[in-house]
Amino acid sequence: MRGSFSILCCTILLLSSISVKSQDNLRTYADKIGMNLGTCVFHNAYSTDQTYSKIVKQDFNTLVAENEMKPDALQANRGQFNFSRADEMVKFAKANNMKMRGHTLVWHSQAPGWLQNLKGQELMKAMKDHITGVLTHFKADNKTVIEWDVVNEAFHNDGTKGELRQSFWSNNFGGDFIDSAFVYAHKADPDILLFYNDYNTANVNAKSTAIYEKCKKMLDNGIPIHGIGFQSHQTLEEYTPAFMASVKENFDRFAKLGLKIAVTELDIRITTPTDQNELKKQADYYREFMEVALANPACRTFMIWGFTDKHSWVPGTFRGTDDALIYDKNFQPKPAYTSLLETLKAYKPDGVISNGKIQKNSFVTINKNSTTALFDLRGAKVGTYTVNSGNSPASYLPQSMASKTIITQNGKHTAVIQNQR
Ligand code: XIL
Repeated sequence: MRGSFSILCCTILLLSSISVKSQDNLRTYADKIGMNLGTCVFHNAYSTDQTYSKIVKQDFNTLVAENEMKPDALQANRGQFNFSRADEMVKFAKANNMKMRGHTLVWHSQAPGWLQNLKGQELMKAMKDHITGVLTHFKADNKTVIEWDVVNEAFHNDGTKGELRQSFWSNNFGGDFIDSAFVYAHKADPDILLFYNDYNTANVNAKSTAIYEKCKKMLDNGIPIHGIGFQSHQTLEEYTPAFMASVKENFDRFAKLGLKIAVTELDIRITTPTDQNELKKQADYYREFMEVALANPACRTFMIWGFTDKHSWVPGTFRGTDDALIYDKNFQPKPAYTSLLETLKAYKPDGVISNGKIQKNSFVTINKNSTTALFDLRGAKVGTYTVNSGNSPASYLPQSMASKTIITQNGKHTAVIQNQR
């Protein structure tokens, strides 16, 4: 009797912990608030390692290929595109109802040798062919890939005088290779969102300011750039209130230009050996990064560069540091996981859309018998909202906004965007 009672208790405990776990994950809450929350994944891991794949599917709604969509992976030999590994990822993403970021089209690193040896018109043609070939290929896939890092890491790291990094692109192209890349990309796929992506740029500093000036110029000149990616490979030591205030200020100034903001490769490395206090501090840092992202309506993409310390580029790249991600080497969630989960859970949507503009922290009144264009928080038009007397509030919503809410107060109608997807 006693034995069967304890078996029953165990079963109940087990079942309840399973059901809590399946609900309580990052993805559930990210989906609710329309956040593209993602991780990079590397070839095959999601099909060969079940624990890895289970966590990817459970916690994230967006993926980026760690290496498989880079120029050397897609076009190792001139004119011969190889999309097989990248396509496997797209298939996995699609099967699990996920989006992807494309990374990356133009970069000095992980570029095939043949490309690095070209000059002038030849290099220009090769750029155009690569961008056109890649975007045309992924465009066909029903927009699983929603946005691309068109140019990666083009600026000099100290950023003084707005200098570009010395590379075969800046040395051999013979024109503004950044502008050209965006023009070619927009031509190949006019619907896809195009980003400039770089590192050491999350806060206001000489490099992010040089990039800010460049983006401004591009927008003034009609170059089709839609977003800015902050890689955000961070260190625990730099984390202070002043640093976070600067990150917020930086996100805000780029958003004011009208650009979308993406945290594209966040990791927070710790000088080893790591202790519990450092893990707690790391959790706070992740939480504040997420809070800054959530507070900015232009930022709806938050990607971590991997999720488990078992597979991370950090220890091999930054000697003496490690433990930068949100699961440990045994796939156990770290304090940083919990802090992200709690932040997403606590988030209250405060974006309201009216006449194509996002109004933060306010409600918008729409007069009866008027029509208002509705945009999601990523800026895509999702339909129009017409208020007629006699309709129930829910019937005002276009199908694509079924999960969004209309609140009616005293006969006035207020559109509250709760889920931007
Ligand atoms: C890194 C990958 O994680 C490594 O596996 C690879 O060996 C080198 O590239 N900035 C970027 C990413 O834009 O593409 C880099 O990824 C990390 C830094």
